[in-house]
Amino acid sequence: TADGTTGNATYEFVVVANRLPVDRVTGESGESSWKRAPGGLVTALAPVMENADGAWVGWHGAPDEEVAPFDNNGISIVPVPLSADEVNLYYEGFSNSTLWPLYHDVIVAPEFHRNWWDSYKTVNRRFAEATAATAAEGATVWVQDYQLQLVPKLLRDARPDLKIGFFNHIPFPSVDLFAQLPWRKRVLEGLLGADLIGFQRPSDASNFLRAVRRVLGFTVRGQQIHVQDGNGYPQRIARAESHPISIDTAQISRMAKDPEIQARAKEIRRGLGNPDVVLLGVDRLDYTKGIRHRLKAFGELIDDGRLEVGGAALVQVASPSRERVGEYMRLRDEIELTVGRINGEHDTVAHTAIRYLHHSYPFEEMVALYLAADVMLVTALRDGMNLVAKEYIAAHVDNKGALILSEFAGAADQLKHAFLVNPHDIDELKDKIVEAIHLPEPEATRRMRIMRRQISTNDVARWSRKFLESLAKTDAELSLDARN
Ligand code: G6P
Repeated sequence: TADGTTGNATYEFVVVANRLPVDRVTGESGESSWKRAPGGLVTALAPVMENADGAWVGWHGAPDEEVAPFDNNGISIVPVPLSADEVNLYYEGFSNSTLWPLYHDVIVAPEFHRNWWDSYKTVNRRFAEATAATAAEGATVWVQDYQLQLVPKLLRDARPDLKIGFFNHIPFPSVDLFAQLPWRKRVLEGLLGADLIGFQRPSDASNFLRAVRRVLGFTVRGQQIHVQDGNGYPQRIARAESHPISIDTAQISRMAKDPEIQARAKEIRRGLGNPDVVLLGVDRLDYTKGIRHRLKAFGELIDDGRLEVGGAALVQVASPSRERVGEYMRLRDEIELTVGRINGEHDTVAHTAIRYLHHSYPFEEMVALYLAADVMLVTALRDGMNLVAKEYIAAHVDNKGALILSEFAGAADQLKHAFLVNPHDIDELKDKIVEAIHLPEPEATRRMRIMRRQISTNDVARWSRKFLESLAKTDAELSLDARN
């Protein structure tokens, strides 16, 4: 049709993300079907989708395969294909070896390759085209995360009738780091195609605003950006705000009260030989998570005699992630060497120091692990939010337990009653672990209560509601905001 829409362009609300909210499951006789993936984003958006006639545009996770659109529990699924080459260049390359390390404060060195960028552009264009063909006239489109930063502008050029929101789930770096990116202008222009650009922390939003001013020279007033067209003429207003994401707190608390899950938590402790203290780490195996720092602190506490094998055990779940990316392979080797050394030195026939699990588990098992843990260790060197920290709190309906939390995780803004640490400071980390273990129960309960209150109000449903409410603001409401 003349406006670029097709017969499928009937959806009033469209989410666009690199990944679809479904996982493929293969049955006993080899037939495959799709199951809703676990995760806060889907949980939050499912009700919105069901009410608003929603569609989800994303990649189904396998290379070189076209999957026809289908329906899953009231959500219309629109798969976008990626070739094996594009998985390599766009996903493993530009997304996860350029942007991911650059946006996480160059914990490892980002690589800049022009052919990765070309593939990023191609794939972003494909996502934008699929979305343009899916969204109804005047629909709301919500683009997710760093893999798709060019989609807002591409989409606006094709479909100026749409309301476009973008949310960045990972940090946005300081302009001094961001400025290294050879395509920094293109990325900012891409994002500024959105009406509202959301970030986790206020500091991420202000880093972005500063980059817009410095790199593009656009006028910024408060959270509003005066976007110019190609000739430098004022075009429209875009906004940058912080909207910290959260979890489905009620669902996790409900699971934590399930007798089966509680029994499983006891069984986990028995399986470790009923130590006095169970410490827990749960992460994707990623260099941003500070797993090595955590292992070092724990190992030294045993060396120093402040913790004893049998009395204390660390369970570290490291779920497989981005396994074909070099830095992830190197990290895995390093972590497995370290765990082997610590265990080889300190294990007894009856007890282990570290129970290392390179697996992913069903969500029920994760909740049982949270319940089994006296102290949760979240020691990320940089993390947009870290939902594991919030899940641990949500699971502790008994108000017991303690959370060690990196100040470099977005969650530290909300969970101020955790034991906040700088994970680079190993001595401080060790002291805080010991302090958390010996925390008197009334004080532990007091801290837990405050943190549980925080996340029971600020859950993921509220996050999406607040973002979408802000996105829906009219120009008149915005000029009122600007005057206030
Ligand atoms: C982070 C990113 C997500 C990403 C997830 C898993 O949370 O913000 O966009 O989907 O990691 O990584 P993967 O590369 O497996 O999608």
